[in-house]
Amino acid sequence: MQFETLLIDKKDEVALITLNRPAKRNAMSPQLHRDMTAALEQLRDDPGTKVLVITGAGDVFCAGMDLKEFFVALKDKPAEYEAVWKLAVEWRSRTLRYYPKPVIAMINGYCFGGAFAIVEGCDLAFAAEDATFGLSEINFKLFPGGSVSKALANLLRPRDALYYGMTGDTFDGAEAARIGFINKAFPKAQLVEQTLAVARKIAGKDGHALRATKEGYRYSLEMSWDAAMNFAMAKELELVQRQNDAWRKDGIGDFLQGKYRPGLESHPG
Ligand code: ACO
Repeated sequence: MQFETLLIDKKDEVALITLNRPAKRNAMSPQLHRDMTAALEQLRDDPGTKVLVITGAGDVFCAGMDLKEFFVALKDKPAEYEAVWKLAVEWRSRTLRYYPKPVIAMINGYCFGGAFAIVEGCDLAFAAEDATFGLSEINFKLFPGGSVSKALANLLRPRDALYYGMTGDTFDGAEAARIGFINKAFPKAQLVEQTLAVARKIAGKDGHALRATKEGYRYSLEMSWDAAMNFAMAKELELVQRQNDAWRKDGIGDFLQGKYRPGLESHPG
């Protein structure tokens, strides 16, 4: 898989996607949105990929939207502007959210504005303790546009979202973990190893059960209780069909034969 603005490295059923515009601090250009859209579609059905990890080249995660190539260069091209706007919103805030495989953000440095929507769209997020996060929009007289305001509303407490949105103050990985924007911050030297360890652990689980776990959570958020229960029953039957009842036959079956204890360990198969 070759892309102008991305690097993709597949190992141990984990695809590491690196935003690769270090000279521009991995800002999201129109081409990056096109590349990401295509890459996600290719990896969606790739049998060798069970988990995705998204990070940035060099010491930067992503400096947000490319302010020059998007906001300035496309200002007088409304059709192209809207097309890129839609792509940008779609892959970060819908494709990742409902992607049939777990997606993890690995924030290795600067993470500004539109990059918040990548982090929020991912299922899990880990950052370097010294990573720098910022809703910098207010600093240049904008607001968190596109899907960013919605991403903040989804994930952050109102006080945190509005404080950081209104002040433009930066915060580090430890604060990002404290406010629940990421799962955990690690010392920078351990970030890759620790994040990939989580990715590999998840990749070792049943892929269909992972998908049902994600979809059960994501779709239930938008549903009434009755609809969610109906959906959960349908998901259960779908899972039986997709994995040939493996959770009942192997998962419960091997426990009942004393082969392992699922409360404490994963099924060995
Ligand atoms: N869009 C376009 N180009 C960018 C962006 C961006 N978001 N961020 C950095 N660049 C470019 C710079 O223009 C510069 O290009 P040049 O070498 O051709 O002049 C290059 O990347 C390096 O930038 P520097 O500012 O020199 O790098 P430094 O490491 O000192 O600072 C930082 C990095 C803090 C990320 C700074 O570039 C910055 O503040 N960028 C803007 C961040 C931002 O506000 N992003 C928008 C969020 S809002 C949204 O996404 C909608």
